[in-house]
Amino acid sequence: MKRDQKFFDMYSLVIGGLAAAALAILVLAMKMSDLTQGVYTRDTDEYQAAVADRIRPFGQVYMPGEEQHSAAPTVETADEPAPVAAALSGPQVYNSACLACHGAGIGGAPVLGNADNWSPRIAQGVDVLKEHAINGYTGAVGFMPAKGGRVDLSDQEVGDAVEYMVEKSQ
Ligand code: HEC
Repeated sequence: MKRDQKFFDMYSLVIGGLAAAALAILVLAMKMSDLTQGVYTRDTDEYQAAVADRIRPFGQVYMPGEEQHSAAPTVETADEPAPVAAALSGPQVYNSACLACHGAGIGGAPVLGNADNWSPRIAQGVDVLKEHAINGYTGAVGFMPAKGGRVDLSDQEVGDAVEYMVEKSQ
């Protein structure tokens, strides 16, 4: 009986000690995480700046007369005029915009290099052909879309392509 009591006392002491140690470690860990969390993440200027940068709105609205809040990227403006795309040559235009139909005679298109197809058309005069190519044309055999559908081409470019086609087809 006496030995049981002694064992029980010892047992309680050990359990109590372990519980106290566990509690102490828990408190210490909480305290430490609290301190370090603040120090290494949330509170540093670096971290805050990084977060602010990441969540900054994509664009900003300035009302007339309002001052700019942040340094906007300054764009170097040169005095030179905006580069204009170099005009395409007749063959270049033909290859990119006309060949699709005029290469194989799609839809009745007069075929490049085929003098029979072209001679009655050339007889109209190059200016008429250019006008038809630029503004579109519906003839006896089919429909020629204005500028071959490439409205981005200039009249000059289409005209050069017509000259190239005529030259190759007589
Ligand atoms: C979608 C097909 C198509 C494309 C692309 C096309 N053409 Fe045509 N073209 C035609 C057809 C079809 C005709 C024949 C129309 C007719 O006479 O009935 C024609 C006719 C012409 C004629 C003769 C017009 C006349 O008065 O007889 C010229 C010149 C011409 N095309 C130039 C061009 C040029 C230049 C391009 C490229 C910028 C071009 N075409 C792109 C289908 C096309």
